[in-house]
Amino acid sequence: MQVDWIIKNVNLATMQDRGGTPYGKIEDGLLAVHNKKIAWLGKRSDSPVFKNTTVIDGDNGWLTPGLIDCHTHLIYGGDRAEEFEKRLQGKSYEEIAHEGGGINSTVTSTRNASNEELLASALHRLKQLHAEGVTTVEIKSGYGLDLVTEVRMLKIARDLQNQLPVTVKTTFLGAHTLPPEFNDKDDYIDFICQQVMPEIHKQNLADAVDLFCENIGFTSAQSKKVFEAAKQLGLPVKGHVEQLTYSGGARLIAEFNGLSADHLEYLADDEAAILKQNNVVAVLLPAAFYYLHEKKIPPINALRKANVEMAVATDCNPGSAPMASLLLAMNQACVLFELTPEEALFGTTNCAAKALGLGEHKGQLQTGYDADILLWNIHHPAELSYGINMNKPQRIWVGGSDVGGDDVSTS
Ligand code: NIG
Ligand code: FE
Repeated sequence: MQVDWIIKNVNLATMQDRGGTPYGKIEDGLLAVHNKKIAWLGKRSDSPVFKNTTVIDGDNGWLTPGLIDCHTHLIYGGDRAEEFEKRLQGKSYEEIAHEGGGINSTVTSTRNASNEELLASALHRLKQLHAEGVTTVEIKSGYGLDLVTEVRMLKIARDLQNQLPVTVKTTFLGAHTLPPEFNDKDDYIDFICQQVMPEIHKQNLADAVDLFCENIGFTSAQSKKVFEAAKQLGLPVKGHVEQLTYSGGARLIAEFNGLSADHLEYLADDEAAILKQNNVVAVLLPAAFYYLHEKKIPPINALRKANVEMAVATDCNPGSAPMASLLLAMNQACVLFELTPEEALFGTTNCAAKALGLGEHKGQLQTGYDADILLWNIHHPAELSYGINMNKPQRIWVGGSDVGGDDVSTS
C-alpha cells in the first residue's frame, strides 16, 4: 500500500462510535496518511505492508482527532473586565445588559476597532486554542449588529483561516441583542432578515445563522422569523437557547432541523427526545455557566438517556466566557456538568464535528476522514479532561501536514 507517512508505536483514541469500546480505542495501533486523508488505521499486528514511506515513532503516546471548538465569539473589540468587577460588586449579567452594558458595550468597542485590531486580537486567541490542539473552530459575528461591522467581522473570520492552519466555520449572529440605534426589537429583526442576512449570504460570508432566544435577547416568535429568513437562503440554523431562563428556543431549533442548540441550562427534560428526533446536537458551554455563577446545570441525564449528541465548546467571548482553552472547557464540563472525560472528548471531536455539519469529514480517526490528528504524551485519554494547563499536543497534523506542536524534538 502506497501512503505518504505512517505513525506506529502509538495508541489511538479513534472517537468513532459512542457506546462502543471506550474512546474507540486501539492500543498498539498504526495509522497511515495519504493525500490529506487517513488511509488506514488499526492494530499494528493487522497492518498491511507500507513500502518506501516515512515512519514516525509515536513513543507509546496517544493519537486523537484534532479538537473542534464549535461555538466561539472569537472576534471582538475591547474587553469587559470592568463589568466583571461590577458583577463581583453585586450586579447581575442581566442588570448590566438592561443598563446598556453587556453585549452592547462590546458592540461599541467592535464598531470602533480597526480591521487590523480585530484581526490581531482574534489571532492571539486563536493561537491559544490551536496550541492546545484545536484544528477547526466556529466563529460568530454578533458584535457589529449593523451591516458594515457584521460584514467586517465575518470577513476577518474567513481571513483567520489564512493566518493559521485551522479550518474556520462562520456563523451570522445578527440577532444577538438590540443595538442602541433601534428602539423596537421587531424592527431590528426585520432589518437583519431583510437587509443584513441576504447581503451576508450574497457575499458567502456565513455558513450558518445563530440567535439569542432569551428575555435579554429575542422572543421565540422573533427567533422564528430569523430562522425562516435563513431557511429561505438555504442556511442552516442554531441558537443560544434556554441559557438564563426557559424560552422555547430549543424546540424551535428542532422544528427547523437545526445543527445545534447551545447552552440549554433550562431545557425541559422531555425536550431531549425532541432534539434527538431532529438530529440537533446539544452544545454545552460550561465556561459561561462558570463565569456567570449559574446555579442550574443542563439536564445531562435526560440528554444522555435520549442519546443526544453532546458537544463541548469554549463560548470564548468577552462577557460570559473570556476563556481561550478548549481543554479547560472539557475539564469544566466534567467537574461542573458531570460529563465523563470520555463524553467530554467526544464533545470536542465527534459530536462537535456534527454540530458544524462536518460529521462526515472531521472529528474521528477513521479511514477517509481528514488527517487532522494530534499526538499526546499521555498514558490515558482521560488526562485531557483531568489536568488544567498540563497538556499540549506534542505534534499537530492538519490535512496530513505537520504544523507543529509542543515538542518538535520528536521530528
Ligand atoms: O454565548 N448568550 C449570548 N451570547 C454570549 C455572550 C455574549 C456576551 O456577553 O458578550 C454567550 O454567552
Ligand atoms: Fe455564545
